[in-house]
Amino acid sequence: MVKVLAVLYKGGVHANDEPRMYGCLENELGLREWLESHGHTYVVTDDKEGPNSVLDKEIVDAEIVITTPFHPGYINRERIAKAKNLKLLVTAGVGSDHIDLTAANEKKITVAEVTGSNVTSVAEHVVMTMLTLVRNFVPAHEQIVSGGWDVAAVAKNSFDIEGKVIATIGSGRIGQRVLKRLGAFDPKELLYYDYQALPAEVEAELHCRRVASLEELVAQADIVTVNCPLHESTHGLVNKELLAKFKPGSWLVNTARGAICVKEDVAEALETGILRGYGGDVWFPQPAPASHPWRAMRNKYGGGNAMTPHISGTSIDAQVRYAEGTKSIIATYFAGTKEYRPQDLIVIDGAYATRAYGADKAVRKA
Ligand code: NAI
Repeated sequence: MVKVLAVLYKGGVHANDEPRMYGCLENELGLREWLESHGHTYVVTDDKEGPNSVLDKEIVDAEIVITTPFHPGYINRERIAKAKNLKLLVTAGVGSDHIDLTAANEKKITVAEVTGSNVTSVAEHVVMTMLTLVRNFVPAHEQIVSGGWDVAAVAKNSFDIEGKVIATIGSGRIGQRVLKRLGAFDPKELLYYDYQALPAEVEAELHCRRVASLEELVAQADIVTVNCPLHESTHGLVNKELLAKFKPGSWLVNTARGAICVKEDVAEALETGILRGYGGDVWFPQPAPASHPWRAMRNKYGGGNAMTPHISGTSIDAQVRYAEGTKSIIATYFAGTKEYRPQDLIVIDGAYATRAYGADKAVRKA
């Protein structure tokens, strides 16, 4: 009998409104019946902060822990140290930076995520956020809701995506999908920066060009989007120093991870005009405190903020996919074969299985 612990966000009344909202506390990733029918124990909580949290108490004897990036149960070194039975950490979604992967490797704990499950959902959100910022949608909408009508106040800061240079930091599954969708807007150029170059035929298909350095990339782009994982070398990557190299008045969209951007530096860049807009759905920490500068920040035109809570990768379509993927990873664990989908593995048997978390990480499987 295995004890499975899941940390999920609270659905409240909304959990009943949409039973396919599997990622919430009440709908339990749809796993309870299946787990209990096989004699396993299933504990689900949203209580994840501090030493007296349910997560801290229940992790002590859990063998499998499921977390999500949306309401991240931070599985740090201390928690891993006291989780004596822990063998498998599953991220229901994509992005396992809320787990101390070094500590997991030391304990030979497998970390797997449902690769690809929400990448289209995120790519759609990225394109939506670009349009929201560049067209100056939020102030226009707020004006209408509050009973106003002032075309000039919005139009003075509203542009087209057509003819712009658009760049992605990271050209993996999401980055490529963003580039593919942006092609339809007839941009001037699509650029990418990634230490893993795309095959020439993919570059040709996406009409994109690789730029050798990050500094060169941001200096050329009207719109920059962040689509790389959070790891040691991307933590605080977009800081004051890099922002100073951005094209003045550009837009920045980050749906990757909040901590890739330095929050105070982004807010300041919006105030000074280095950035005309910033949007995305990822924060650090999550939930974001009421005082987080990204909630209230504005550009000099009173707009430029297209932030949402962490929703891009948790559309209902995505939840159906990551709930199924989570079950499949756990079923493989129970089977004892280790025949996981190779692309789902982040670390296994004490080694990295992917290069996405750093150029220097070993590739265990293709
Ligand atoms: P992926 O693994 O397919 O692609 C990531 C790419 O980033 C790889 O090509 C890798 O080489 C590149 N990369 C890594 N470090 C880099 C660096 N320092 N500079 C430039 N490129 C670098 O991952 P995928 O599926 O595209 O997801 C990317 C990230 O998006 C996830 O790790 C996660 O943090 C975030 N995400 C956010 C979601 C949301 O709901 N907001 C949902 C899904 C993913």
